[in-house]
Parts: sequence; C-alpha cells; structure tokens
Amino acid sequence: MSLLWALSAFLRVYAAGALVVFTQLLRRCFGGFSEPTFQAQPGRVAIVTGGTDGIGYATAKQLARLGMHVVLAGNNEGRARDAVDSIRAETRNGKVEFLYCDLASLASVRDFAREFKAKQLPLHVLVNNAGVMMVPRRATGDGFEEHFGLNYLGHFLLTRLLLDTLEASGRDGRCARVVTVSSATHYVGRLDLDDLQGSRGYSSHGAYAQSKLALVLFTYRLQALLEARGRPVTANAVDPGVVDTDLYRHVFWGRGRLRRLLAPWLFKTPEEGAWTSVLAAVSPALEGRGGRYLYNEKDTRSLAVTYDTRLQRQLWEISCRLTGLRDALEGPD
Ligand SMILES: NC(=O)c1ccc[n+]([C@@H]2O[C@H](COP(=O)([O-])OP(=O)(O)OC[C@H]3O[C@@H](n4cnc5c(N)ncnc54)[C@H](OP(=O)(O)O)[C@@H]3O)[C@@H](O)[C@H]2O)c1
Repeated sequence: MSLLWALSAFLRVYAAGALVVFTQLLRRCFGGFSEPTFQAQPGRVAIVTGGTDGIGYATAKQLARLGMHVVLAGNNEGRARDAVDSIRAETRNGKVEFLYCDLASLASVRDFAREFKAKQLPLHVLVNNAGVMMVPRRATGDGFEEHFGLNYLGHFLLTRLLLDTLEASGRDGRCARVVTVSSATHYVGRLDLDDLQGSRGYSSHGAYAQSKLALVLFTYRLQALLEARGRPVTANAVDPGVVDTDLYRHVFWGRGRLRRLLAPWLFKTPEEGAWTSVLAAVSPALEGRGGRYLYNEKDTRSLAVTYDTRLQRQLWEISCRLTGLRDALEGPD
C-alpha cells in the first residue's frame, strides 16, 4: 500500500513538473521572458523567509532594488552575511539585514517574531518563501514531518504572529501584503486531515505536494478572515514555476550534469522565478486584491479543493492547535 502510494505520488509530481517545464520551454522559444518593471517602494518594509538563497534571495534583491527595507529571515548565519553584503552592494540599499529564523522550530519562529517586533518597524510585505523539497523522512524538533512542519506550519505560525503588525502597517488604498510561495505540485497534492504527518504511508513527493497544497488553503482562509475583520491586509499565493535552484539537491538528478545541461532551456532563473512574488508584493494592479493564486505573473485557478471553505477552516483550526495558538480568529464558517 505505502509503496503504491509513494509510486503514485512520484508520478503525479513528475507529471506536474513536466507540464510546467514544457510550457516554460515554449515561452522561452516563442514569447521569451521579459523582466516586468515595478514602482519604487521607499519607506516600505518586507520580510522574506529563505531570503539567503534561490528565489528568496532574488526576491529580496528585487525588493531592495525598489528601495524597501528588507529583512532576510533564515537559519544559515554564514550564508546570510554574504547574502546581505551582496544585496547591499548590488542595490546600493543599506537597509538590508538578517534576522535568524529556523522555520523548522516553532520556538525559533516565536523568537523571530519577538525580535522583529522589538525593532518597532512597520511591516508592509511578508514573503513566506523558505522551503525544502523531497528531503528524506525526518521530523522537526517539534516532532512534525519536515515538509509539513517547516514549509507549512512554520509559515502559518509566523504569519499569525506578525498579523497584528501587518494590520497596523496597512491602510485602505495601501494594504499590507502576505505573499506565500506554493508550487504547481499542489495540483497533485492530497490533504488528509487525519494523517498530516504521513504516518499511514509516507512519500517525500507526496509530503512536499501536501505542504504546498496546505499553503494555498491557508492563504485563502487568511484572506477570508482578513476580509471578515475588515483589515487592510491581503493574502495571495504564488507559484514561481520550475526554477534552477538548490531546492533540487535532494532529488537524484538535482546535483548532477543533467540539471546543468537542461536548466538553461527548461528552468527559469531565480530572478525570473522571483517575478511573481515581487509582483504579488508590490503591483498596484493587485491593490486590495487577495485570495488569488498567481502563476507566471497572472491570476490562475488553483486546484478545485483549495476553494473548499470547510476544508480551509478545518486546516486552520488544526494548525492553530498544533502551533499552540489559542485565538483561531473570528471568521466565516
Ligand atoms: N525551485 C523551484 O523550481 C520551485 C518550484 C516551485 C516552488 N518553489 C518554492 O520556492 C521556495 C524557494 O525555493 P528555492 O527554489 O529558492 O530553493 P532554495 O534555493 O533551496 O531556497 C530555499 C530557502 O529556504 C531556506 N530554508 C530551508 N530550511 C529552512 C529553515 N529551517 N528555516 C529557514 N529557512 C530555511 C534555505 O536556507 P538554507 O538552505 O540555508 O537552509 C533557502 O534560503 C520554496 O518554498 C519552494 O518550495 C520552488
């Protein structure tokens, strides 16, 4: 049973990836990728999780280039020093800093939120970007399956803890924004509320896809709660496409020659992969608009089950319980 489940998850994830790669190849051959332009954002503050590498680094750099004060949230202090230095040098923006946050630890997420708040900065954009993919089966320090615990629950808690700051920083006509990085694998993900840790049958492919599906459900529930509370904050999910980063280091072909050979044709660069996140963070066209799934810089339909408001609410309540949050926030049933 669990072998069959693992095989079917493997095939579903690769089918989703192949479709994305094929459309990216067509785009590169015909339309091409041309960099969108964004308005300057002086005085605005952003947090980018996983901002030290890959898409997160490119996102942080693009936001810094627009004049934002950018806080990189990550768990690798050595890498962070280099990332901060190079973003500062390339963008000539000195307001780029690092704050330690291990998203695989709920205590670390709480410490991060406390330290960020102690700075008494506003928060206009939170980019929930950090992630791991297809890591061997292992648990976070809190005992959660790693994809679920880090990719999903860590960001759930982080967003909830920073929500008051986001709400205080947004205003009508200039909302604060939560941007959450999902993936096309969410289309093949399955969410079993009775077995979120994969104890009945584990597959690293299935666990990754489930975490990305959970992030879309979380985004839509968050948006509904924000609307119900009438708060000037929006929440959108983004899908960066298939991007040439070290995310693939746990995949059998991810470190070898095959990736180096194919990536220039089939994959987006990290900069191209960051465009949809940056668009969701700053585009005036998205002012006041939330609850969307953005792919290739456009509004796209996510998997049908993500619009199931009952499932959104159930997942939200379970997530509150698992992260020890007592206030689930008042919202629609
Ligand atoms: N690349 C793709 O094709 C693709 C496709 C769809 C979606 N995505 C999504 O895009 C996001 C960024 O991925 P990427 O491709 O840029 O991968 P990446 O280059 O591996 O970057 C992931 C980032 O997350 C950080 N991170 C990992 N564990 C962490 C932890 N415990 N606490 C805090 N930060 C942690 C990493 O830092 P360290 O490595 O220093 O720990 C790194 O900065 C992920 O959510 C991924 O699922 C990527």
